[in-house]
Amino acid sequence: MNKNDYTIRLEKQEDRRAVENLIRESFWNVYSPGYLEHYVMHVLRDDPAFIRELDFVMEKDGRLIGQNMFMKTVIEADDGRMIDVLTMGPICITPELKRHGYGKILLDHSLEKAAELGFGAVLFEGNIGFYGKSGFNYASRFGIRYHDLPADADASFFLCKELIPGYLDDVTGVYQTPLGYYVDDAEVEAFDRTFPPKVKLKLPGQLF
Ligand SMILES: CC(C)(COP(=O)(O)OP(=O)(O)OC[C@H]1O[C@@H](n2cnc3c(N)ncnc32)[C@H](O)[C@@H]1OP(=O)(O)O)[C@@H](O)C(=O)NCCC(=O)NCCS
Repeated sequence: MNKNDYTIRLEKQEDRRAVENLIRESFWNVYSPGYLEHYVMHVLRDDPAFIRELDFVMEKDGRLIGQNMFMKTVIEADDGRMIDVLTMGPICITPELKRHGYGKILLDHSLEKAAELGFGAVLFEGNIGFYGKSGFNYASRFGIRYHDLPADADASFFLCKELIPGYLDDVTGVYQTPLGYYVDDAEVEAFDRTFPPKVKLKLPGQLF
């Protein structure tokens, strides 16, 4: 990869459909047959927790190859405080350019901008193999639990990175996924039908 062959900028109104299509292509059949993240993005842009200043697209040779976005959420601390944090995603890179280093560049750029805006920590569900290279660790190491997950369940999918060192030092508690991420299956299906047809496949390695 040539380090100068891409640009990262904020998403514009006119990018929206192309970004949703990019998300659809990138997530399709990866975690389950089909997927829903393109609809999640469609819905979340109108959510009060959505952060326009952290809604990025990546371009190469004049076309969209990646996107990433953030939402505000909270940790409900065990001592009763509400700790403001970020969650992130969908993040994606177009399928034909996966594993060329673009995802890490986009992620690191986004995190740097989030830190510049003064946010203290980012938590979400993800693969430590990718996010660990950008400084994420298991959220359990920070004393943060995932909502509705039994205490003895595997929480290795739940990751955290402090943007302000020590931000979570005196915090233990439960992270809450913003409600906007919970979309209705029928609405996903209806939205998906507005895109060109794609075949849903049950593939090895899918999570759901
Ligand atoms: C996940 C995604 C954004 C990563 O972007 P990418 O451009 O493919 O990743 P990069 O090439 O920048 O990878 C950076 C590092 O993470 C590792 N990595 C990337 N994806 C990984 C994965 N799925 N599992 C384990 N490690 C991974 C790479 O090996 C690379 O390390 P290296 O440079 O030492 O080899 C991209 O693959 C994607 O869009 N996937 C489908 C959608 C998705 O899963 N989004 C994330 C949901 S949480």
